[in-house]
Amino acid sequence: MCYSGCQGCNYCKSAEECKIDDDLSGLLEDIREADAVVFGSPIYFNLFSGQFKLMEDRMYSFIDSGFRSRLAPGKKAVIVTSQGNPEGPAFEKAADDFAEVLRFLGFEMAGIIRMVDGGSPDAVLSRRDLLDQARSVGSSL
Ligand SMILES: Cc1cc2nc3c(=O)[nH]c(=O)nc-3n(C[C@H](O)[C@H](O)[C@H](O)COP(=O)(O)O)c2cc1C
Repeated sequence: MCYSGCQGCNYCKSAEECKIDDDLSGLLEDIREADAVVFGSPIYFNLFSGQFKLMEDRMYSFIDSGFRSRLAPGKKAVIVTSQGNPEGPAFEKAADDFAEVLRFLGFEMAGIIRMVDGGSPDAVLSRRDLLDQARSVGSSL
């Protein structure tokens, strides 16, 4: 996908949608319509990736001029993160902070799935606990 970050033009405060027309436009519309959304990002330099942050900032169009969410209440959200560091708590704050943003937008948090020591693509296959957590969170949506 090819997309840009929020330009802070505030068009969305009167028009109720983001003025930028790019590969994120359809995704933002999908999020508006979804009953549940799974958000995922690797940890890059202690935080969610830059690509993810560009998407997050574009969700500014979900907030009206009075800083109230325009999203229908009660949407469920799951966050999935993966980091190379084997220490679980090392970067928990990144997902916890994003969960706060989602709550502000009116999402109900259904779960946060945190992969550690995830440097190789198949590392999660040996994490039966996380696969079980994913199955359990998925069936709760
Ligand atoms: C640019 C970059 C920065 C990274 N920074 C961190 C980091 O700060 N802490 C960490 O534990 N892993 C870091 N990693 C490793 C990734 O978080 C890790 O490989 C992750 O499992 C990748 O997830 P993915 O397989 O979904 O892409 C970094 C990787 C890249 C490419």
